Amino acid sequence: MDESGKHEAAGTDGEGGAQRAVPLARGLSTKLLVLTVLFVLIAEVLIFLPSVANFRLQWLEQRLGTAAAVSLVLLEADADAFSREAQNDVLMAIGAQAIAVRDAGVSRLLLVSDMPPEVDRHIDLNAVDPLSAMTAALDTLAFGGQRMLRVYGLAGESDKAFELIIADDGLRQAMLTYARNIAFLSLIISLFTATLVFYAINRIMIRPIRAMTRSMLAFAKAPDEPGRIVVPEARSDEIGVAERELAAMQSKLYQTLGERRHLADLGLAVSKINHDMRNILASAQLMSDRLRAIKDPTVQRVAPKLLRTLDRALAYSEGVLAYGRTQEAPPARRLLRLRPLVDDVHGLLGIAPDSGIEFVNAVDAELEVDADSEQLFRALSNLCRNAVQAMSGDAEADGALVHRLTVSAERTGTVVRILVADTGPGLPRQARENLFAAFRGSARSGGTGLGLAIAQELVRAHGGAIELVESTGGHTVFALTIPDRPVSLTDARGQLRRHG
Ligand SMILES: Nc1ncnc2c1ncn2[C@@H]1O[C@H](COP(=O)(O)OP(=O)(O)OP(=O)(O)O)[C@@H](O)[C@H]1O
Ligand SMILES: [Mg+2]
Repeated sequence: MDESGKHEAAGTDGEGGAQRAVPLARGLSTKLLVLTVLFVLIAEVLIFLPSVANFRLQWLEQRLGTAAAVSLVLLEADADAFSREAQNDVLMAIGAQAIAVRDAGVSRLLLVSDMPPEVDRHIDLNAVDPLSAMTAALDTLAFGGQRMLRVYGLAGESDKAFELIIADDGLRQAMLTYARNIAFLSLIISLFTATLVFYAINRIMIRPIRAMTRSMLAFAKAPDEPGRIVVPEARSDEIGVAERELAAMQSKLYQTLGERRHLADLGLAVSKINHDMRNILASAQLMSDRLRAIKDPTVQRVAPKLLRTLDRALAYSEGVLAYGRTQEAPPARRLLRLRPLVDDVHGLLGIAPDSGIEFVNAVDAELEVDADSEQLFRALSNLCRNAVQAMSGDAEADGALVHRLTVSAERTGTVVRILVADTGPGLPRQARENLFAAFRGSARSGGTGLGLAIAQELVRAHGGAIELVESTGGHTVFALTIPDRPVSLTDARGQLRRHG
């Protein structure tokens, strides 16, 4: 994978794939790195709060413990025996201003500095809840340094409670140092963790994804080169699945593309052959025309058949050629009256008066359809010609029967539905099974099987649809639905303004 990844990377970058590459700042790796550092830092902050609160309590407890030890010694001895200097020294050593002992509800001052201080905060070390410990710690860190604290609680093994009056600047200094150390440590831990996580995820996920992206880009550029199909790694996770799916998709695409190319080549060859064949047939037709002049009875009998056969061959050839050109121009649509158009179709069909086929134009004279007149004409004439062909075959078999071809239409809202109904024999199975499939649907000798396919293509270009509504012996109905073009609001407003 790495190998092929590198190979593809070289291929892509070399051909300007770099424009589509993701810039480093927005890449997955950068996002991953930043997020990991951020999350680890958040975790560290969450740990920091309780630990700094704990540090503060421990610091205070330690001072109270020392004070208690001193107090116990003082209680044994006679406190008054200590000189003021000695008292001050002891207090200074603890960092306190005064020490008192409380025994059976009575508080007794043991040591006090020269200047008895005012107390700002009272802290009961035997009754601290975690939340207030944390807020108090933050408070000390942020605003402390100038306050006097009165700290009290049981200390050591003795059953006496001790009190300590102490300035909080020492505490704050110690806490700041502690916080700084923790912050530094956090940073190192988060960088270390981030690096590990980053490296692992980069290796497991990002590198394969990047290689896949590169391979996709390379493949998109030249899907006919089998060397550009991704080579999946043997891994069982989601990325492995994605790689295998991608490889399968690319192989399929490569294969389809090959088939399409062959078909296109074949199509080209066929239309070249067909083109020349049409010319040959046309000259054969011209020559055969002269056969009519020969009076020989055998020739007279065969000549019309020969001519008809040639006609058919020529029509077939031309049909294939026309389809080979495929790309129909997009419809040039406008609102047009449908009735005259259907009359034109009638004219083109050239139904002989004695054919026993009646053409009924049942379209309302006012009805308008939003279509390309030329294309709609072609679609309708294909449907009508099919009907006439089917019915005249039938009429030959049963001369007495009168057949009718009816074209009707109605508008519902923005959609016009045109029905072409005939009383012919209905669609043969072959035609029904390959309805609208070019070259396959013909069940008529001399038919190309293009009429319905072309009609469908033209109607679809209008955003409409063509369907076989019903086909039983004696009743076949095709329906064309043609919706109006969607109205653009700005155009409509512009028109309103111009007219009003
Ligand atoms: N109204 C209909 N009644 C009976 N059969 C029909 C009708 N319309 C179509 N068919 C059948 O469907 C087949 C396909 O029609 P389509 O117009 O696609 O091809 P075609 O008429 O055979 O050839 P082409 O129109 O290309 O000259 C026809 O051969 C015919 O058998
Ligand atoms: Mg036809």
